[in-house]
Amino acid sequence: MSTFGTLFRVTTYGESHCASVGAIIDGCPPGLELSPSDIQTQLSRRRPGQSNLTTPRDEKDLVQLQSGVELGVTLGTPIGLLVRNEDHRPKDYSETDLYPRPSHADYTYLEKYGVKASSGGGRSSARETIGRVAAGAIAERYLKIAYGVEIVAFVSSVGKIALPATAARAGADTDDDDTDDALSPEFRALLGNVTREEVDRFPTRCPHAETSERMTQRIIRAKDAQDSIGGTVTCVVRRVPRGLGEPVFDKFEAALAHAMLSIPATKAFEIGSGFRGTEVPGSKHNDAFVRRADGRLGTATNWSGGVQGGITNGEDIYFRVGFKSPATISQAQATAQYDGTPGSLAARGRHDPCVVPRAVPIVEAMAALVVMDQLLIQNSRKAAAALLPPITTLPPTMVVPSAPAAEEDEL
Ligand SMILES: Cc1cc2nc3c(=O)[nH]c(=O)nc-3n(C[C@H](O)[C@H](O)[C@H](O)COP(=O)(O)O)c2cc1C
Repeated sequence: MSTFGTLFRVTTYGESHCASVGAIIDGCPPGLELSPSDIQTQLSRRRPGQSNLTTPRDEKDLVQLQSGVELGVTLGTPIGLLVRNEDHRPKDYSETDLYPRPSHADYTYLEKYGVKASSGGGRSSARETIGRVAAGAIAERYLKIAYGVEIVAFVSSVGKIALPATAARAGADTDDDDTDDALSPEFRALLGNVTREEVDRFPTRCPHAETSERMTQRIIRAKDAQDSIGGTVTCVVRRVPRGLGEPVFDKFEAALAHAMLSIPATKAFEIGSGFRGTEVPGSKHNDAFVRRADGRLGTATNWSGGVQGGITNGEDIYFRVGFKSPATISQAQATAQYDGTPGSLAARGRHDPCVVPRAVPIVEAMAALVVMDQLLIQNSRKAAAALLPPITTLPPTMVVPSAPAAEEDEL
């Protein structure tokens, strides 16, 4: 369906070549100072035509606030966000009247609905993600002001070229129990400090000059060969309050995975140690507890990626999303027409040779939507519990000393 979230509820609308795309957000707290520029920054990072590494479709993607905001302040009523589609050229897609594009969504949309948009990717187009990015920017603004939450994503690989700090360990196929922490010192430093400004210094959005240059050459090689290439985006979310996540089906990482795998072209998601966590024994994988300066518990390592039992533990949340090589390529491919006639498709149109540089703000937006929604849910639970008298009948191992109300500093 086209709605995401329970209390911070976002519905996106629009297809690749229709008049406009956008979103309705229901459940945004009233009283948030908000201007179009707060949203536009992220939309402009997502827009096509940013460099020679992205599709040349030239959309400005200027957002218009339709409702829910007056004199720069949210009213608590539904916020309508609209972006016009301007540079669409339906005729580019005429050969796809005959051919469903291999590994695109043409065939499955037609099978499912029995009818589909006449041109472009329709609803499966990345144009749909404009509504997510706009809504995510609003969630992010609230999270930043109210909790100091920071969300930064960056490109960690393109094809087989990986940011050194995130590259797979050499000798990973040996059967020994010794291992480095999943987080090398360089990766820890990156997660702790990397900023959007540093990420945006590079057209690839990989914040490492030498690797970024190799990625650029790899994308250009794909483009010159009328081909495409995939990659991964890593994201860190800092200063997320403890206690978010709704076990069992909406555990925090399950909600994140849902959010990330709903982005077009995604094929993989891993949080914390991810698949590497399967390679080391528990004695090395466990995140031992330590006392933090504020007297509360933290963990010495962070293989868990900031989530345990589906609930945030106050450490940085970090995860990685895998994006496939875009399906639409102008190189001729042997395939079949809708009626099964074998043939060859060389798709025209303007397409991204690699989606990951543009996927960075989309990943950040979906992360913001998950944190925001889970935060509002936890806040409502806490507000309801706070109306009850303190618990005095249970042993101390069962209840936080002054729970549930007063001492909760974060929520
Ligand atoms: C930022 C971004 C840009 C994209 N650009 C293209 C593109 O130019 N050409 C293309 O074939 N797919 C592109 N995609 C992917 C398609 O939207 C998507 O892969 C396709 O609808 C098939 O759906 P699926 O990959 O999710 O199964 C893009 C995805 C994202 C996130």
